[in-house]
Amino acid sequence: DSIPVLTIDGPSGAGKGTISRLAASRLGWHYLDSGALYRAVGVAASWADLDVSDPAALVRCTFDTDIGFRETGQGLRVIVDGVDATDELRLETTGALASAIAAIPEVRSALKERQRAFRQAPGLVADGRDMGTVIFPDAPFKVFLTASAEERADRRYKQLKDKGVSVTIDGLLREILARDARDAQRTVAPLRPAPDAVLIDSTGLSIDQVVAQVLALLPSPA
Ligand code: C5P
Repeated sequence: DSIPVLTIDGPSGAGKGTISRLAASRLGWHYLDSGALYRAVGVAASWADLDVSDPAALVRCTFDTDIGFRETGQGLRVIVDGVDATDELRLETTGALASAIAAIPEVRSALKERQRAFRQAPGLVADGRDMGTVIFPDAPFKVFLTASAEERADRRYKQLKDKGVSVTIDGLLREILARDARDAQRTVAPLRPAPDAVLIDSTGLSIDQVVAQVLALLPSPA
């Protein structure tokens, strides 16, 4: 496939979403938020009242759920079976459900082709955990974006505080460390950098600095 892909993988809280969206908009490329697909299946499963410990039902749900993205003035909206589920998608409970569902191998393979369909001219920025390792192994540009657990806990704390949610940094840090360990140790698509990925540590860097480091990997337009 000659259509270029820039993959941005890494743990949650490293800033992948922000950096990927900015990079895509600077390049004029398409954007794939792969986590949103797992979250959308989570939302559909909860609407259908499915049992999280019933993998067969979750796999069927993955095949049956229609997931669409719509760009509006207020950012990207995610449409699940015809209903705008963007707000529900962002909930912590949906993230936890998505993470459980994402551990089912048949769910991952059911979403493979849907993710690859985003590869369209002039290019794609793909954000996730296994973009460079499993979904687009032939991508010419790969980034593994990290930040220290402390910095990720700190960023999350500020986001939640702005939303009026009361949490402690210590509690967030513990959750982040536990999720990192789970994501790295799971048997299907464990979170690890592709051998040919460039590691970028965003600890202490501004958003602009990280975007600049990412875009520096691509040939500059003549
Ligand atoms: O990135 P986001 O937090 O939206 O992803 C939600 C969950 O989906 C993650 O915790 C992860 O377990 C899973 N996921 C995945 N592979 C991806 C993207 C997300 O396993 N490519």
